[in-house]
Amino acid sequence: MLNPSDFIKESIKDIKKTVGDGTAVIALSGGVDSSVTSVLTKEALGDNLIAVFVDHGLLREGEAEYVKNTFEPRLNFRYVDASSEFLNALEGVSDPEEKRKIIGKIFIDVFERVAEEVGARFLVQGTIAPDWIESEGNIKSHHNLALPHGLVLEIVEPVRELYKDEVRIIGSELGLPEDMVQRQPYPGPGLAVRVVGSLSPEKIEICRKANAIVEEEVHKEGLDESLWQYFAVLTDTKVTGVKGDIRDYGYLVVLRMVESLDAMTADVPELPWNMVKTISRRITAEIPEVTHVALSVSDKPPSTIEFA
Ligand code: XMP
Repeated sequence: MLNPSDFIKESIKDIKKTVGDGTAVIALSGGVDSSVTSVLTKEALGDNLIAVFVDHGLLREGEAEYVKNTFEPRLNFRYVDASSEFLNALEGVSDPEEKRKIIGKIFIDVFERVAEEVGARFLVQGTIAPDWIESEGNIKSHHNLALPHGLVLEIVEPVRELYKDEVRIIGSELGLPEDMVQRQPYPGPGLAVRVVGSLSPEKIEICRKANAIVEEEVHKEGLDESLWQYFAVLTDTKVTGVKGDIRDYGYLVVLRMVESLDAMTADVPELPWNMVKTISRRITAEIPEVTHVALSVSDKPPSTIEFA
C-alpha cells in the first residue's frame, strides 16, 4: 500500500473519475470495511454517497445506536428498520445456510428499494483483498451488478487491494474513532448464526444479552485488543440446572473466543479463568432462561469460528 495519505488522495481521485457527479450507495454494516469505505468515498463524493444501514433485527445490543451516532454526523446516512420483514421470513427456519440465503435475499430487496428511490447508478462496496482472493479468484474489478428487480449498478471497490490491517490504518487516518477501526468482525447475518436452530424473538434476545455480557467482560479485561472474535452462542440444547432449591430446565450457552489473523484458521488461547467464571456467573444470573454456560476449546480447523 502507498502511505496512508497518498492512498487516500489517489482513491479520491479515482472515485471522482469513475462516479463523476452521479449518485452512489453503499450498504454500511458498521463493520470496519464498509465503515472505512463509506468515509473514504464520502471524501470524494460528499452527499452524493448515500450510506444505507439496514437493521435486520439481528444486531448486537446497542449496535443500531452506535452506528447511528458514529455515522449520522459524518455521512448522508439512511437508517432502514426492516426487522419485521427479516424476522417474519426467518420464522421456523433452522438450517444455517437457509437462514443466510433468506437474509441475503431480503437484504438485497431492501437495498434495491432504497437505491432505486435515490436514483443510484453506482454501488460502493467495502470488498478487501481476502474477500476476492479466497472466494472467487481474481475477478475483474470493473463490473456491473444487476439487482433482482432490474436495477443495474456499476461497482466501485476503493479498498479492494488492501488487507484488514491496512483498512484500519486508512480508517484512523480519516479520523474514525479507534474503537470503530479496531472492532471485532461481526457476521452479516448477525445473531441469526449465533442462535443455533430456529429463531424466535425470545432466543434472539437471550443471545443478544449473553453477547453483551461477553463483550463487556472481555473489554474490562483488555482482551478486546488481542482476541479476533469473542461471543456467545445460544444452542438449541436444554439442560437441567438448579436455581435456589428449585430444579430448572433452561438453555445451554457456549462461549467462543478465538485468536486469528484472517479467520481462515483460528486458535482458542488460554483465557483468564476469572473472566470466564465471571461471564458464566453473570449470564446465568442475569438471563434466567440460561442454566448452563460452556466454553468452546476447539480451534479452526476442524471447527469453524461461528457455530452455525
Ligand atoms: P467461520 O465460521 O466460517 O467464519 O469460521 C469465518 C469468519 O467469517 C464470519 N462469518 C460470516 N461473515 N456472513 C459474514 O459476513 C456470514 O454468513 C458469515 N459466516 C461467518 C465469521 O464471523 C468469521 O469472522
